[in-house]
Amino acid sequence: MKKVIILAAGKGTRMKSDLPKVMHQVAGLPMLEHVIDNTKIDDEVEVIAVVGHKKEIVQEYFGDSIKYAVQEEQLGTGHAVMVAIDHISDDDEVVITCGDTPLISKETFEKLFEEKSKGFDAVVLTSCVDNPTGYGRILKKDNLFNRIVEEKDATEEEKAIKEVNVGTYIINGLLLKKYLKNISNDNSQKEYYLTDVFEQAGKENKVSTLEIKQEDMLGINSKLQLSEAERILRKKINEHHMENGVTFINPEAAYIEKSVVIGKDVIIYPNVFLRGNTIIADNVTLRENTTIENSKVGEYTCIQSSTIFDSEIGKNVTMGPFAYLRPNSKVGNNCRVGDFIEIKNSSLDDGTKASHFAYIGDAQVGKKVNISCGVVFANYDGVNKFKTIVEDNVFIGSNANLVAPVKIGEGSFIAAGSTITDDVPPNTLAIARERQVNKIRKDKKD
Ligand code: UD1
Ligand code: CA
Repeated sequence: MKKVIILAAGKGTRMKSDLPKVMHQVAGLPMLEHVIDNTKIDDEVEVIAVVGHKKEIVQEYFGDSIKYAVQEEQLGTGHAVMVAIDHISDDDEVVITCGDTPLISKETFEKLFEEKSKGFDAVVLTSCVDNPTGYGRILKKDNLFNRIVEEKDATEEEKAIKEVNVGTYIINGLLLKKYLKNISNDNSQKEYYLTDVFEQAGKENKVSTLEIKQEDMLGINSKLQLSEAERILRKKINEHHMENGVTFINPEAAYIEKSVVIGKDVIIYPNVFLRGNTIIADNVTLRENTTIENSKVGEYTCIQSSTIFDSEIGKNVTMGPFAYLRPNSKVGNNCRVGDFIEIKNSSLDDGTKASHFAYIGDAQVGKKVNISCGVVFANYDGVNKFKTIVEDNVFIGSNANLVAPVKIGEGSFIAAGSTITDDVPPNTLAIARERQVNKIRKDKKD
């Protein structure tokens, strides 16, 4: 089987945070989630995370989607693998990687398996970097992998080597177990070095190296590196969308999670955030300052400066500025949801318009309904929430209150300023307010 051991027990002291390092987010997801996603090259892959520092937070987030091995004390990368070794069988192919290198792509993990299948017992992922300080250096003999020397154990000559150990490997289960038994902490850091496994492997077996770009190996130890990873990943995501026909006014100011699907001829203005399972159809325009999370947007819709959670918007809708769709809202085709409209747990059927200042909560609104300025669906009595039904072709005048539970029949008209507490039959004019009285002001003489 394919097994992946992800080393994620470290404290991440330099992050200066209460959160375990691997839970810090890059492009909207914990960095460990990126690593897990990228290593899962097929359904056969089983992931084991080595956790330690604040493991409860990691385990609560990932639940039983992965397996865990607990490393109470961080005695080195070799020791971290030792605590996970019971999950490994002799005939497994085992990838070992770190939880803090989220930019190593799925393609790289695929290539690791591919390279190994060329007849190698192990493959070490490497990168040639401008500044190798801090990394293990790759020592080669006759152009073949020989061993890795840690910075702290390296000679001056070895320190000049620019090809470094990324900290990602693939190896046979049997060999991993065999060599792991032999390693000791007899080195300058008194740590169990995982790299010693590959030194032994290099002596007795065929070990290959696979090189990746410097940009892809970025390990995150600080908030500065976190922001760097964020920038790189975001750029990759946005470039992918541009290749598929999406236009960005400023790609550096569009924040799109990798799970988002976007059609062609979509135009994205600055400060747009697209998160989670969001699907944007062709020809949509997302104007500035819009956030859309776990929602669907239909073709030719235009949304400006609005916030949308867990909702569905049809085709050819114009929305905003400053519309707020809370979860479970559905806006049909050809609707208008204008400025300062809040919709919660409600549906608006095709052709309905709410152009300005309204609250629509727990409502089922039919087709071609007009919801005028200042309409409030009063859905809450302080204890319970109630539903309002508005049938097709209803006109609700300005500043009307619909006190739920209430139903407005098809084709009816609610006079402006009415407070509706009783059902209104179809094709009816409902007026529920005091008549206007004009009185002479006796105090006012000219
Ligand atoms: C290790 C490699 C080094 C390589 C570098 C790449 C060894 C001995 N050295 O360096 O050649 O260039 O990675 O970043 O392996 N971790 C645990 N438990 C431990 C120790 C570490 O889970 O006991 C985790 C850390 O949380 C981290 C990862 O392993 O995610 C790498 O540890 P780190 O200390 O950063 O690597 P080095 O040992 O310095
Ligand atoms: Ca270290």
